[in-house]
Amino acid sequence: MLLPDDLKNALESETSGTPPKELAKTVLELSDRYRNDNLSGGRGFIKTQQDAKAYAAFRMPATYAAAYSVLKQVREILTEWQPNTLLDAGAGPGTVMWAAAEVYKGLKSYTLLEREKSMIQLGKRLAGYSDLKPIHEAKWLEIDLVDTDISELDISKHDLVMASYVLGEINEKQRNDFVKKLWELATGMLIIIEPGTPAGFARIREARELIIAEGGIIAAPCPHSTNCPITSGDWCHFSQRISRSKLHRQVKKGELSYEDEKFSYIAVSRLEGKQVFGRVIRHPQVRKGFIEFEVCNRNGIEKKIVTRKNKEQYRLAKNLSWGDIMQYL
Ligand SMILES: C[S@@+](CC[C@H](N)C(=O)[O-])C[C@H]1O[C@@H](n2cnc3c(N)ncnc32)[C@H](O)[C@@H]1O
Repeated sequence: MLLPDDLKNALESETSGTPPKELAKTVLELSDRYRNDNLSGGRGFIKTQQDAKAYAAFRMPATYAAAYSVLKQVREILTEWQPNTLLDAGAGPGTVMWAAAEVYKGLKSYTLLEREKSMIQLGKRLAGYSDLKPIHEAKWLEIDLVDTDISELDISKHDLVMASYVLGEINEKQRNDFVKKLWELATGMLIIIEPGTPAGFARIREARELIIAEGGIIAAPCPHSTNCPITSGDWCHFSQRISRSKLHRQVKKGELSYEDEKFSYIAVSRLEGKQVFGRVIRHPQVRKGFIEFEVCNRNGIEKKIVTRKNKEQYRLAKNLSWGDIMQYL
């Protein structure tokens, strides 16, 4: 996949005054600060405009790809659902808003909550490059989501609430309250995305259990709201390939023309979605005469084999990738 042109142009224009080498150096400093931090949850790390720009140039294409991929999976399950309003918690430079605008063209209003002033300033400038009025008119609020009781703030409920790559920055003791607050603010759906690592998945799994206990129905990736069958040592995650622009390659000092962003996620709804057989949780293995799938479904994790003999099934199966839903074949 590619970044939409207006976002790509926005990132290029906003970073054009800073040599990519300097952005890359700032990225390294930021990663060091995060790596050596156990307590602050990254508070105050992204201080300057250069910090915010370096984050956006280095990470925004990949987190955009993850959010876009997740939203598309959700749309496949709740085919009739169309959110009008989106609340993004820990919005950074507004990544989720851009992805949501691509998938849900009917979105009319955005509220973005973010702690760091420099991110908000950059996010507003990027939004200025969009062709879409709701993106220009997005409401940005400078809020520390942990220090503030958001239920006491004047934030109305939204159809879709998202928190992307944020949970890991919230102190473990406050995380559950944070997730519950977000769920309360969602009239339709809450989506949480984390890095596709064992630690990221552990946070997703905890949030999953918590919201199911609050009455949530899992829309994706799980095709059921019963116990998660992933065993210890393994982690449920998916991958989205994104093409790298010239800027992206320079900042990443990477030669490859693409990168694969790995992510874990959970989308919890207040509505029942389409019933499906399962979700493909690994790359399908194409063998001679058959394709082998590992599928998560109501019975747990199962192998499903589709042979070439069954022409119609095989035709459908050939188009399935890791992360897709599998209908009843
Ligand atoms: C890794 S960035 C992700 C940004 C964006 N959601 C994305 O997917 O690209 C995490 C963002 O969460 C914000 N954040 C972390 N803790 C926060 C808190 N307690 N309150 C508000 N924002 C917070 C950070 O400032 C940062 O912009």
